[in-house]
Amino acid sequence: MTKASNIPIENNIQVCPTQEQASETTAQLIADVIKAKQELGQVAVLGLATGNTPKLVYKELVQMHKNQGLTFKNVVSFNLDEYHGITPDHKLSYHRFMREYLFNHVDILPENIHLPFGTWKKNRIGQHCIEYEEKIKHYNGIDIQLLGIGRNGHIAFNEPGSPFDSVTRLIDLHPFTRNDAADEFGGLDKVPTQAITMGIHTIMNAKRILLLALGKRKAEIIKKTFESEMTPQIPATFLKARPDIEYIFDTEAASLL
Ligand code: GLP
Repeated sequence: MTKASNIPIENNIQVCPTQEQASETTAQLIADVIKAKQELGQVAVLGLATGNTPKLVYKELVQMHKNQGLTFKNVVSFNLDEYHGITPDHKLSYHRFMREYLFNHVDILPENIHLPFGTWKKNRIGQHCIEYEEKIKHYNGIDIQLLGIGRNGHIAFNEPGSPFDSVTRLIDLHPFTRNDAADEFGGLDKVPTQAITMGIHTIMNAKRILLLALGKRKAEIIKKTFESEMTPQIPATFLKARPDIEYIFDTEAASLL
């Protein structure tokens, strides 16, 4: 692993020269939490994200497991979201994504893995979402939450309009988000119209939050998020309510700051 040479531009913003270095930095912060909790004989509760952004983070964590003996035996994980209406084996389900990029390659205990299910029946979703929140509370909350950002400013699937006090729930996907996913689903008509997502309030309750943004595609929304007042129209702006949030960018994502 090469050591990332970061240029700190503010205390809580790190700009790394490359996507790889930003991802390594992020993985290291997560691994440090896992190890610190191990030393205390405690579980490390990770809030995990999907999408292209965290792929290299997970790759790095898998390397640390294989080459440096990082164990996930004390890890409990909660994923942010899942598309509604798809099974855990669907090739674009977040269940499958997590197995493919992380869970299948580390020693996390299957019973410690939590994701919302896209197969939850509509009349039971409310109850499942309450139970999801309760499980997080049962573990005393999320120790470290990894976040990406959508190009419309969503975090998890908290689309524009999501209130600050929102919790885990079913949400309609914004046309912008569905368009962004159209290619990988093989057409807009195949993209789910709804998702189950942790709420803004759920996310903000995490003890530590890392927002990772990579690449030129994210530069515009990062700029908007930093320049705008807090508004439900750009849900990521709510993160400003917590000055301790850690932002990790590559040079491209930070290029308009
Ligand atoms: C999806 C996920 C988000 C993620 C966002 C950005 O909408 N629900 O959690 O942050 O996409 O995705 P990407 O990292 O692929 O740009």
